[in-house]
Amino acid sequence: MPGLVIIGAQWGDEGKGKITDYLAEDAEMVVRFQGGNNAGHTIIIDGKTFKLQALPSGVLRPDKTAVIGNGVVINMEEMEDEIKRIVEAGGTIANLKISDRAHLIMNYHKKLDGAEEKYRGNKPVGTTKKGIGPAYQDKISRIGFRVGDLYEEDLLKEKISFMIPYKKDLLEMMDAEKCQCSNESLFAKMMRWRDMVDGLVCDTSVLINEALDAGKKVVFEGAQGAMLDIDHGTYPYVTSSSTCAGGACTGSGVAPRRIGSVVGCLKAYTTRVGEGPMVTEMEGEEEEALQKLGGEFGVVTGRGRRCGWLDLVQAEHSARLNGFTSIAITKIDVLCGYKEVKVCTAYEIDGKIVKHFPASLSKLEAAKPVYKTVKGWEGWDDTAEVVKNGYDALPEGMKSYISLIEDGLKVPVDLVSIGPGREETIVRRDPWHS
Ligand code: GDP
Ligand code: IMO
Ligand code: MG
Repeated sequence: MPGLVIIGAQWGDEGKGKITDYLAEDAEMVVRFQGGNNAGHTIIIDGKTFKLQALPSGVLRPDKTAVIGNGVVINMEEMEDEIKRIVEAGGTIANLKISDRAHLIMNYHKKLDGAEEKYRGNKPVGTTKKGIGPAYQDKISRIGFRVGDLYEEDLLKEKISFMIPYKKDLLEMMDAEKCQCSNESLFAKMMRWRDMVDGLVCDTSVLINEALDAGKKVVFEGAQGAMLDIDHGTYPYVTSSSTCAGGACTGSGVAPRRIGSVVGCLKAYTTRVGEGPMVTEMEGEEEEALQKLGGEFGVVTGRGRRCGWLDLVQAEHSARLNGFTSIAITKIDVLCGYKEVKVCTAYEIDGKIVKHFPASLSKLEAAKPVYKTVKGWEGWDDTAEVVKNGYDALPEGMKSYISLIEDGLKVPVDLVSIGPGREETIVRRDPWHS
């Protein structure tokens, strides 16, 4: 089956960008299907670092088509900056396509994002303040601007004349930063956006389905992670889109039967940015040490990521929701040198052992991790040599750790990522043939 979806198995930042770029080698097309520039995907090619937010990781491979699907929300101005950065760094948007059904993030969405966080008082979500939530709110309320609207000037003028007074009133009511634009200035700005994307906009569902019909391979690049899913994540501490594999269908206009493989990108330990429960979170020096070892600082906001041990209760939730056919384990190299490594295999909540991830925040707050402790392993000097020698040559402790994950999740670990670079990847089995 030529459709392969890559999903973050935790709370984001698992290394999806790296794995997408790696698996894109065999593909014709890379598709983003949800989220927006709240995402920050790092790809390192020949020592050069690229940080992608709204653009699909396919833009770094000039022979691939990179698609921004209908489920994505786009901030045109920030995307313009991102395009500039990527082109300067050697990427290309020559093969970029943008769905006419994708929604636009407006300046007032960013302002509302900040204002809503303020209203949540001492319980903010800790959003990226990119306007993601308010943009999706407008989509669901059926008042959002779509990319295709840029080509219908009368419709656009009508929508602007309704939207500007509405959002101005809303911002004022929320005591938020004012929206300065007039109907005319917003229309002029939107015409500039149209010029910017002209030639790139189309019905991307047709494009993707034609590629699949022709037997071409398509990678669907998830953003965020399963635990940030609006339905299945740690609500309300989630993002505002469907981050799980099902989102690839609705967010790109392909049928479920066209998705053959679902790769869960699983970091060898847990991280989370922003607020919300995280049962295996470490504290103090232990957390700081892992944060430093893993370079756990956000791409988008620069915030330090909270760190903890791997949580198999959480990962099982993810594997079940997404139907992972493979796991790509990432950053396992970061754990080299630990004397002991812990894995959470169950939660203890009010004296009871719980194996399935609960919906209730209070249960999650009360949950104590039940750990299995395994012997650690030493690292190596030459990663290229380790990659060359393949899986069998990895440290025994690391392989036992991987077996523990496979046994716990009943999913094979097909890829082992042992460094941030494209080539620092060990393939045990081709995920395209799962
Ligand atoms: P994404 O949002 O899931 O694409 O992940 P991010 O790019 O936000 O964060 C992952 C970070 O880990 C980036 O700095 C990557 O360069 C880095 N990274 C990815 N895979 C590996 C790996 O296997 N080992 C190490 N040490 N770093 C990795
Ligand atoms: P990638 O694709 C990690 C988190 C934010 C916040 C919550 C809601 O790089 O893995 P939002 O701005 O989406 O309304 O914020 O979701 N969040 C992410 N955390 N990685 C991401 O993306 C994230 N995108 C959003 O920190 O807690
Ligand atoms: Mg990221």
